[in-house]
Amino acid sequence: MPSPESLLIRHAHIILPNGELMLGDVLTRDRRIVEVAPEISTTTPTTAIDATGLTLLPGVIDPQVHFREPGLEHKEDLFTASCACAKGGVTSFLEMPNTRPLTTTQEALDDKLQRASSKCLVNYGFFIGATTENLPDLLLAKPTPGIKIFMGSMHGQLLVDQDAALEAIFAQGNRLIAVHAEDQARINQRRQEFAGIHDPAVHSQIQDNQAALLATKLALKLSQKYQRRLHILHMSTAEEAELLRQEKPSWVTAEVTPQHLLLNTSAYEKIGTLAQMNPPLRSPHDNEVLWQALQDGVIDFIATDHAPHTLVEKAQEYPNSPSGMPGVETSLALMLTAATQGRCTVAQVANWMSTSVAKAYKIPNKGAIAPGYDADLVLVDLNTFHPVRREELLTKCRWSPFEGWNLTGWAVTTIVGGQIVYDKGQLNTKVRGQALTFL
Ligand code: DOR
Repeated sequence: MPSPESLLIRHAHIILPNGELMLGDVLTRDRRIVEVAPEISTTTPTTAIDATGLTLLPGVIDPQVHFREPGLEHKEDLFTASCACAKGGVTSFLEMPNTRPLTTTQEALDDKLQRASSKCLVNYGFFIGATTENLPDLLLAKPTPGIKIFMGSMHGQLLVDQDAALEAIFAQGNRLIAVHAEDQARINQRRQEFAGIHDPAVHSQIQDNQAALLATKLALKLSQKYQRRLHILHMSTAEEAELLRQEKPSWVTAEVTPQHLLLNTSAYEKIGTLAQMNPPLRSPHDNEVLWQALQDGVIDFIATDHAPHTLVEKAQEYPNSPSGMPGVETSLALMLTAATQGRCTVAQVANWMSTSVAKAYKIPNKGAIAPGYDADLVLVDLNTFHPVRREELLTKCRWSPFEGWNLTGWAVTTIVGGQIVYDKGQLNTKVRGQALTFL
């Protein structure tokens, strides 16, 4: 691999670690940021980027994605997914274990790391998935951001929905546990009640707010009993947000997706099964409560739950249509557009999409623009708008639930380890990310 060059980013609006904005320069060398100052002059050979009018943020760390390799590459693979990441300003991702084979052993984890090292344009980390039988693997696997438990909304080995099995996992070891919190028993019962209805809107009624609340309550209870580090993935309901607002131990974190903030059940009318995901889209009231929880720190950060399925698969009649939607290419622009509309600040977006994620998963040297940090950066343009267009997407599934939305804050240049991986519509497919480490 060519050694990363020295890069000088000039005249950028830089989001500093304290949230303040500074007009200035950033110098990188050997994958790291070496200087941040109003004006930097250097004598060493350096590639310069004129960032006049652009805003520099720490690269997005997307902490929940499903990239489908190995086994489901017709939907997405690590190369196409990482290209989509680079275009979306995502410089690191944490990927989920529901691939084929499942990532439930060290061998499967090593296989993913090996594949990623040869084809990923951005940095990568992989969760280890819990089954009812792989406790020894869960205790030893590394490197991994944590243990993923599907408490519901899954079938086969990755479903862990019995209290005793869950308790056994919470009771042993001290590694972070990330839960997909939906109560499978309630979902099963409601599936029968609503059987025969093919309107995808019924998905939000079957996997209702109560199903999410029940599972989140149980996960919280187990986490408190064992003082176990818990992360609640894609929290979707007002009820869960209120629960966490009342009692959130210091060792618990939660995330929300852009789609649970920005879309609601009215989306089924417009885009049908493309709006189908787990946990499902909720009401406008849930949108509002989730925004407030994010503002108040009850929710810590943002993940996309990028879960691509082909349009042919999605075109099947509900309930045969699979759940999930892509997201890595649009998440940053969606959140920055929300910032320009006054919903939040650009500094908050940088915190929710990078700083706070690095902190929660203890990823060293990431999530801030400061000397010593890794040079994972994204330059965005907050002055122009451009619509989400299907034909411009790099995700293999080539659709977005946000198609037609006119967004600002698109990535202009994405930098991974001091190397330009994406610049004004062009990818540098020679760049390779690195395996993330977790303290
Ligand atoms: O909608 C979803 N689809 N939610 C998940 O958690 C899994 C995902 C998938 O892998 O398709």
